[in-house]
Amino acid sequence: MALLPILRYPDPRLHTKAKPVAVVDAEIRKLAADMAETMYEAPGIGLAATQVNVHVRLLVLDISEDKSQLQVFINPEILWREGEHEGEEGCLSVPGVYETVRRSERVRVRALNLDGQPFELDADGLLAICLQHEIDHLDGKVFVEYLSRLKLGRIKAKLAKQSRITV
Ligand code: NI
Repeated sequence: MALLPILRYPDPRLHTKAKPVAVVDAEIRKLAADMAETMYEAPGIGLAATQVNVHVRLLVLDISEDKSQLQVFINPEILWREGEHEGEEGCLSVPGVYETVRRSERVRVRALNLDGQPFELDADGLLAICLQHEIDHLDGKVFVEYLSRLKLGRIKAKLAKQSRITV
């Protein structure tokens, strides 16, 4: 396994729309394993392939306390959504920024697993939020883009300042 570099907002590559995975093969399984390692190391609870500059529809997440429940979603699709939820989100591609985003409260997702088998999952709470956040990444959307222009401008300035300090 290998740690992968994570793209940082406002890297324009984060706006790439990812392509569906055609075949779930050894290469995809290796990517999922590397992404999981990268996510745990960061540490974060979710990571989309877009964030490691691989533009295929694959995401990993683990919302368990002890980091023992890795979930992999290949070609995820939201089939159904219900309700509204407002909560604070962060993102490994936007370090140090936490902002309130409005999302659906419950979603039903269909995806393929690492064996290439389809499954459906009804999610609510943190899992539902995380799935919507990561699927957005696959569509080229970063959570801060839900915020007002003014707020987004402030965030970009803050990130630019951070990168000057940390180089
Ligand atoms: Ni993110």
